[in-house]
Amino acid sequence: MSKVVRFGISLPKGLSEKFDRLIKEVGYPNRSEAIRELIRKEFVSREWAKGDNVAGSITLVYDHSGREFLKRLTEVQHHHHHTIISTQHIHLDHHNCLEIVIIKGKPREAESLLSELRSIKGLKHVSLAMATTGKKIP
Ligand code: NI
Repeated sequence: MSKVVRFGISLPKGLSEKFDRLIKEVGYPNRSEAIRELIRKEFVSREWAKGDNVAGSITLVYDHSGREFLKRLTEVQHHHHHTIISTQHIHLDHHNCLEIVIIKGKPREAESLLSELRSIKGLKHVSLAMATTGKKIP
C-alpha cells in the first residue's frame, strides 16, 4: 500500500451538504472513501478516453429461442475473441438468458464489439461497465 497524504478541501456550503447526502445515499463509509472512489472513477474514464489498455464487462439479456440470433451472437463473439477473455451465461427463466462478457484490450476494440452486439436484432439489453486493468490506478 502506498503512503497516505492528507489535505484539506474547501467547498461551497451547498455543494458540501449535497456531497454529504450523496455519501449517505451511495453508502460510502466516509468522505475520504467517497473522494478516493470519485478520483479513481475519473482516472478510469480517462484511461478509456485516452485509449489505454482497459478492462470491463458487457451485460447482455436476450431470448435464446431465435436460432439466427444465437448464430449471429456467436459469430460476433468469435470475431472479437482477442478482446473477450471470458463469458458467463445464466438462464434467467425458460426463455431469457443473461450473459456477462468480460473484456480486456483497447477501448476502440471494446466499442467495436459493443456496437456489433447492439446491431444484433432481438437483444433485450446491452450495457457496458468500464473498468480498469488497475495497473495505473494506485
Ligand atoms: Ni440461457
